Amino acid sequence: MKILMVSSEAVPFAKTGGLADAVSALSIALARLGHEVKIVMPRYYGVDKDVLSPLEGEMGVPMGQGVEEWCAVFKTELPGSPPALPVEVFFIDHEIFFGRDGVYGTPADPDFGDNPRRFAFFSRAAFQLCYKLQWFPDVFHAHDWPGALVSVFLKHGLRYGPLEKSVSVLTIHNLGYQGVYHKDNFAYTGLDWNVYYEGGFEDWNMINMLKAGICCADRLNTVSRTYCEETKGEAYGCRLDGALRSRGECYCGILNGVDADLWNPEKDAYIPQRYSAAAPGGKAAAKKELLRVFGLPDNPDAPTLGMITRLVGQKGVGELFGPSYGSAYSICKEMDLNFVLLGTGESWCENELRHLSSELSNFKAHIGYSEKLGHLIEAGSDFFLMPSRYEPCGLNQMYSLAYGTLPIVRNTGGLADTVRNYDEATGEGTGFMFNDLTPQAIYNTVGWAVWAYYNRPEHIAKMRERGMKLDFSWESSARKYVQMYRDAGVYAP
Ligand code: ADP
Ligand code: GLC
Repeated sequence: MKILMVSSEAVPFAKTGGLADAVSALSIALARLGHEVKIVMPRYYGVDKDVLSPLEGEMGVPMGQGVEEWCAVFKTELPGSPPALPVEVFFIDHEIFFGRDGVYGTPADPDFGDNPRRFAFFSRAAFQLCYKLQWFPDVFHAHDWPGALVSVFLKHGLRYGPLEKSVSVLTIHNLGYQGVYHKDNFAYTGLDWNVYYEGGFEDWNMINMLKAGICCADRLNTVSRTYCEETKGEAYGCRLDGALRSRGECYCGILNGVDADLWNPEKDAYIPQRYSAAAPGGKAAAKKELLRVFGLPDNPDAPTLGMITRLVGQKGVGELFGPSYGSAYSICKEMDLNFVLLGTGESWCENELRHLSSELSNFKAHIGYSEKLGHLIEAGSDFFLMPSRYEPCGLNQMYSLAYGTLPIVRNTGGLADTVRNYDEATGEGTGFMFNDLTPQAIYNTVGWAVWAYYNRPEHIAKMRERGMKLDFSWESSARKYVQMYRDAGVYAP
C-alpha cells in the first residue's frame, strides 16, 4: 500500500509529545512490513533547511476565494527506516505560517491565533504534494486536529482522478485538543459553506476541526482500546462522545508500540551501563548516575520515584503538586524515597516544583526538555509515576516496563491496557494502580509500592523481570493499522 502520513509532529524533527514518537515509529513499522510510506509535516523554524534537499520549483496551494499560498518543499529520509524501503519525509516550507518559534504556540502564547489558517493550509498542501510528486497514496493517514482536514478535503471535493480510490484514516492521539476557532476561519478551508454543516465543522457557531475529521474520515481510531471506549461516554468524550458514537464500528482503538531501537536498555547510549532482563546489573549504575545528576544523596537502598511529563491538567499534576494533604510534599516528607521529575508546562506548576526542590532534601525537579535525562530517569528509577486524569495511550509507562521500572498509574486509557496491578498474595502484576484521581489515592498507592519495595523485594524483582520481557513492538500494531486501511476500502493483495 502507499500511505501518506499527515502530521504536525514527527521525531526527530519536531516533538511536543508522544504524537511525534508514534508517527515516526508507526511509519517505520509499516515500511518494514513492505508498505510505501511518506510523511508530510511543516518545516518549522527549528528544522534546519541545510540538511534537507529542496524539491525543484514552488508549490501553489489553493486556499479558497481564488487565493493561492505559495510554499517550498524539502525532503529527507527518516532515520531508522529500512534501507530497502526508506520512509521519505516532506517538509512544507512557508515562512509566514511556520517560520517562527513553537509548533502550536509559545509559552507566552500557547495557541497561535492563526493556527486554523496554518493547519488548513498544511492539510491542503498534502494534496498538492501528491500532484507535485505524481505519487498518489491509497491512504491519507492524518493525525489529530492539525491534520484532520485532510479527511474533509478528500470527502468533499478532492476524491477524483488519480485520488478516486484513495481513503482517509484519522488517528486521535488526544481528544482534549480539537482545534476550535472562530467561524470566520472556515473561509481558509476554501470549502463551500454547506460543508460547514455537512462536514461536521459546526460547534456552537465555531469551527471544530477535529470534529469535522471525525465525521469525514473513512475510518478512525484512538491509541488504546480502553480510551476508545472511554471517549464514547460523556466523562471522557470532551463533548465529542456523540460524534464518536455515531461512527459505530468505524471507530476503534489500536495501542501504540515502543520503538525498540530508541527505548531499549540493551542499546541505550544515554545510560552509563547497558542492561537486560537476564543481566540487570546496569540498572544500579543508572540509579547512581541519576541521583548524582539530580544532586540527590547517593542512597541506593531507598527507592527512587521518577516522573517525566508535560505539566498540564491531563497528567494529574494538579492533584500531585497542589496544596492538599497527600500530595508530593507529604509523599516526600513521610516516605523514605527519592523523587525526581523532568517536565515543562504550566507556570504555576513549574513554580511549585522549584519551591519543592528547594524545600525538600529528597525531591528534585528539572524544568526543561531533555532526551538524555528522560532516558536516565527511565533507567535509574525504581518506580515511575503517571497519575493521569486521562491517557489515550501513554508511552512512558511502556518505556518504564522495558527498563525494569515499575509504573504507578491511574487505571485509565492506555495505562489500564498496558499495566497489570500488583497482587500482594501471589506477587503477580507489573505495576501499581489506583482508580480515583485524588491526592490521597496517589499517596496511598506510592506508599503501597514503597512498602513492597522494602518488604517484598522478591516480588519487586519478579515484577521487573516480567515487565522487561513484555513485547510492545510496533509490528503487531502496524498490522492492525493495515487491517484498518483495508476496512476503509483499500484493496491490496
Ligand atoms: P503525551 O504525548 O500526552 O505528552 P506520552 O506518554 O504519549 O504523553 O508521550 C510523552 C513523550 O514525551 C515521551 O516520549 C516522554 O518521554 C516525552 N517527554 C515529555 N516531557 C519531556 C521532557 N520534559 N523532556 C524529555 N522528554 C519528555
Ligand atoms: C497523546 C496522548 C498520549 C499518547 C500520545 C501518542 O499525546 O496524550 O497518551 O501516548 O498522544 O499517541
